[in-house]
Amino acid sequence: MKRIVLTVLSIFILLTSQLRADEGMWIPLLIEKFNIEDMQAKGFKLSAEDIYSINQACIKDAIVIFGRGCTGELVSDQGLILTNHHCGYGAIQRHSSIENDYLTDGFWAMSKQEELPNPELTVTFLERIEDVTDQVLDGVKKKHTEAERKEIIEKNAEKIESEAVEAPDLTASVRSFYYGNQYFLFIYKQYKDVRLVGAPPSAIGKFGGDTDNWVWPRHTGDFSVFRIYADKDNNPAEYSPDNVPYKPKKFLPISLKGIDEGDFTWVLGYPGGTSQYITSDAIRLIKEVRNPNRVAVRDKRIEVMNKYMDANDTIRIKYASKNAGASNSWKRWKGEIVGLERLNAIEKKEKLEQDFMNWAKKNKEYKGVLPELGKIYDNIEEYAVAMDYYWEAIRSVEVIRFAARFRDLIEMAQSDEQNDNWESEIEELEKQTERFFKDYVVKIDQEIFEQLLPMYFNNVDEEFQPEIKGLNDNYKEYVNSIYQSTIFTDKDKVLEALNGSKEDVKALSEDPAYKLFSEFSDVVKEEVYPVYDSLDLKANQLYRLYMKGLMEMQDDKILFPDANFTMRVSYGEVKGSYPRDGIIYKYYTTLDGVIEKDNPKIYDYDVPDRLKELYESKDYGRYEVDGTVPVCFIATNHTTGGNSGSPVLDAEGNLIGLNFDRMWEGIMSDMVFDPAHSRNITLDIRYVLFIIDKFAGADHLIEEMKIIE
Ligand code: ARG
Ligand code: ASP
Repeated sequence: MKRIVLTVLSIFILLTSQLRADEGMWIPLLIEKFNIEDMQAKGFKLSAEDIYSINQACIKDAIVIFGRGCTGELVSDQGLILTNHHCGYGAIQRHSSIENDYLTDGFWAMSKQEELPNPELTVTFLERIEDVTDQVLDGVKKKHTEAERKEIIEKNAEKIESEAVEAPDLTASVRSFYYGNQYFLFIYKQYKDVRLVGAPPSAIGKFGGDTDNWVWPRHTGDFSVFRIYADKDNNPAEYSPDNVPYKPKKFLPISLKGIDEGDFTWVLGYPGGTSQYITSDAIRLIKEVRNPNRVAVRDKRIEVMNKYMDANDTIRIKYASKNAGASNSWKRWKGEIVGLERLNAIEKKEKLEQDFMNWAKKNKEYKGVLPELGKIYDNIEEYAVAMDYYWEAIRSVEVIRFAARFRDLIEMAQSDEQNDNWESEIEELEKQTERFFKDYVVKIDQEIFEQLLPMYFNNVDEEFQPEIKGLNDNYKEYVNSIYQSTIFTDKDKVLEALNGSKEDVKALSEDPAYKLFSEFSDVVKEEVYPVYDSLDLKANQLYRLYMKGLMEMQDDKILFPDANFTMRVSYGEVKGSYPRDGIIYKYYTTLDGVIEKDNPKIYDYDVPDRLKELYESKDYGRYEVDGTVPVCFIATNHTTGGNSGSPVLDAEGNLIGLNFDRMWEGIMSDMVFDPAHSRNITLDIRYVLFIIDKFAGADHLIEEMKIIE
């Protein structure tokens, strides 16, 4: 009898766990309440306290925000961290030149003395999370308008933040969840001395390039290695040769035991943003208008960059990071369009909205919310289009963007009052000027602008088009006249102006590039933003109500809050997929596949000789599995941009890989997760160690790590 009961129970657990998709990005503080049972039923061996605790060292203490938009994790007691190659890309690129081309050749510090400092790079630890909903909403009444509500909330949040920062190195941030139905406080500690320790050549770290980006099967060794330094007391400090390796509260052990299909895996990191609860109208706007527009503009921009990069190695290095950034979203937007179509996402949302409307008949508070939201989408399109073209076709032009940075200084110069920030602003702009010209190629920029400027005028409503003197239909000639006469393409002249008098700076307001920037930005500021922002504010208010309604309507389900670049747990299983009729995706790839793709004639697939030698001699050491080395695997963890570099962990909390991408067929998971096709792509940790150890010979790094075989 007992056995039967048990089996029935386990079937039930099996069924419910199968019914529940692996969708969701969960708040570490609430794992105990919402997820731990489900996680353990699926194979997780640890407790919620092991992930997040304020009483003991826990796994969250081994996780950092890397730079501004990625995740990294500690893997040694000497502050060693792993993240993606594409996350360290900016740093690697900045240290690169034709003589020391670390992008092409890779970089390995063979001792701590050789590690390279990165003045602008930080890593940020999460100290703790608190639910502060009541304090944040204190004083908010029904009668308040949305703008008044916002103001009260901002004031409350500021107070909470300033009271929470009890030590000098801490920062605090109150963040909204579920469109403002809930608020959490995050306390962070940021370290500022982060050094580059190692990076494979791009032919490994970016293998497959933008051709393979967002696509499975994948063979990219997307990792780089850094080290956090601290002062003698292990506290954050600006870079100094006297700093010492940071001693973490916790670092991740690495498992070489490998993975099988069906294994439990989870990811702890910083997903940047999702919009899971938007309506069918919102999806339609993205799928049919915004994404196609943005893709069209980037098509042109990327095409010009590629042309010049292919022809010249110096340009290839200078534009590598810019090109990668532009291509990445471009391709994702394209994939989202395809994925939303295939999933019938609009119809699915409409069905949910129908259910909601029916339910709202008995729940009067919610009756008007969807029709009201509908009205917003009837009105927002032309404003959204103008904004997208402004940012994609005008502000993406380098000389315009660069000139725009001078706005504050120019405004200071135009005012009669003395400004205390004058000196520091000059200093900052001098730095930015150096950085801008290090990687600037004027002919690329000019050719891009020639292509992009007409796109703005051909697609944006006439009322949002600035009247520009001298511009007729000959865009090329007009753009040329700007580049001929602006000083913002000439480093010496810019520095001269910065070192000159207040009058010299004031004169910059008449510079043709700056003037063009302000003509566009004035129109956008006066005609587009005010309406867009007020519609957006109203939409946020309605979404807050809709979200609350959705949670009440589906009270048997726990809805996760949209990602907002706060730490989250995603969990799922290692799993292949069936992308199309007749095709099965295996859940892993191997070094054999790298060699299969090898083609010295194609930049993205030019396998380094040293790797080919290792392949020939089968010198795989302990990273060998079935005569090859595993490279990547896929799983059902729900992740998004920002999760890059996140640790992918096994049931015991050991590191088994680095998250770095998602699969094309499920790429619309920021809006709708598709359990059949949404997969995160992980770089297998065994490939990471194989490259560090056998390829680079940096075994001193392996020695720092704790490896479980
Ligand atoms: N698609 C991945 C992510 O969104 C990897 C991007 C790497 N960049 C690239 N252009 N290949 O970050
Ligand atoms: N590649 C992304 C990142 O950089 C991850 C993703 O979008 O899945 O965070």
